[in-house]
Amino acid sequence: MASLTIRKLDDTLKAYLRLRSARNGRSVEEEIRVILRDLAEGGPEPTETPAAGSVTVTAPVPRAASVASEPRITLIIGGGIAAYKALDLIRRLKERHIQVRCVLTRAAQQFVTPLAASALSHERVYTDLFDAESEFDAGHIRLARDCDLIVVAPATADLMAKMAQGHADDLATATLLAANRPILLAPAMNPLMWNNPATRRNVLQLRRDGVHTVGPNAGEMAEAGEAGIGRMAEPVEIAAAADRMLRPLLPRPLAGKRVLITAGPTHEAIDPVRYIANRSSGKQGFAIAAAARAAGAEVVLVTGPVELGDPQGISVMRVESARDMLHRVEAALPVDVAIFAAAVADWRVASEGSQKLKKTAAGMPPLQLVENPDILATISRLKEKRPPLVIGFAAETEHLIENAKAKFARKGCDWIVANDVSPATGVMGGDRNTVHLLSREGKEVTVDSWPVMTKEEVATALVSRIARAVGTAS
Ligand SMILES: Cc1cc2nc3c(=O)[nH]c(=O)nc-3n(C[C@H](O)[C@H](O)[C@H](O)COP(=O)(O)O)c2cc1C
Repeated sequence: MASLTIRKLDDTLKAYLRLRSARNGRSVEEEIRVILRDLAEGGPEPTETPAAGSVTVTAPVPRAASVASEPRITLIIGGGIAAYKALDLIRRLKERHIQVRCVLTRAAQQFVTPLAASALSHERVYTDLFDAESEFDAGHIRLARDCDLIVVAPATADLMAKMAQGHADDLATATLLAANRPILLAPAMNPLMWNNPATRRNVLQLRRDGVHTVGPNAGEMAEAGEAGIGRMAEPVEIAAAADRMLRPLLPRPLAGKRVLITAGPTHEAIDPVRYIANRSSGKQGFAIAAAARAAGAEVVLVTGPVELGDPQGISVMRVESARDMLHRVEAALPVDVAIFAAAVADWRVASEGSQKLKKTAAGMPPLQLVENPDILATISRLKEKRPPLVIGFAAETEHLIENAKAKFARKGCDWIVANDVSPATGVMGGDRNTVHLLSREGKEVTVDSWPVMTKEEVATALVSRIARAVGTAS
């Protein structure tokens, strides 16, 4: 049997394998095993040849055989100003393990490109009813039926009028008319268009026909100075509505598991008005909580002071200090998985002033610091109620892997997620993260370095990895 040294692969292949393995929540070695197994079983080849003359974009990450069981949505993007939000919707759906195949109307292509939709969905994008490449076997019928749900976002006044009348003069309307799957519309238009009697009649007719809707919401319009009902529902709302309609079909690898997550900074009071804090935004911890929830877990989120709203379906406890956080964490046990993503202050002042500290002639008041409880180490070392999987975060500004390995050795947890939070990375408060997952194989510490990803993508990859360790995923 030949052996393979990953270090010796060329850089492009290494980068591809890292991206693919991170997205699927596997180590690079596991990912290579899956690719080889898929090929041996006649699964998809890792590259696809684009059809001549079509708008196909080869996906950077091919569909693994294991995702064939994921539900699929045909997403029809209409020609409204909110079409740009449909691109975010693709990402939100994929975070929920839903495959997305896009159809763009001619008008939609004035607002977003097929290339962008294809790059985000990792699938070919369809635009033309009379496309010889896809219509040789009645492609519009496949788009209508080879999916579990059809979502139209933004659903323009024009598309809804055509649907209500049964038109089929382009790919989007022909697909909708040929559909035997549930349809979810996310209308988006100017409030005058939404309130126009014609639109009212069309929406009523569509609802009578069994079509579902999400939104529109009230708010500011793109047109200066206009507001009212007509804004498309936010991508997360549309994804949640689609998720609810697909619920029986969605993989829930953490169903029946209880997951505890900490997030955000802690505030350590100096006196009633001042405190010691750090720059953590809580975004990574909140994203992990949402991903764990989407994977079917019961989620408890203990968060320090952050400017983020409560994610849906999650039990959120808001605390101030490290000691409050520890109490809440202990009260939440037992759990199957504990993920400590909070940036807990290492120190607090020895004695908090009961009144605001004043300037005095004697100069600065001495601030003596004492150590805070170490939440990760405390929970990792519990004799009773120790969660079967304890994951810590290491936020470092230098010698990342070296410091993370030392922390791993000290704390007694099962995995460490190390990230570089030095100001140049923009990780603290930003939307992206580059992480390294430290785990053990026997006595060896292994380090999986994931490529730069959004915090949501990191969360999804981490939750997939957790599901493999403790869940029902294979
Ligand atoms: C700048 C601009 C913005 C538009 N925004 C919307 C919109 O938000 N909602 C809508 O229903 N129509 C909007 N329209 C009109 C549609 O683009 C037009 O009705 C088009 O025929 C819709 O085609 P489709 O439904 O096939 O995508 C907009 C048009 C322009 C030029």
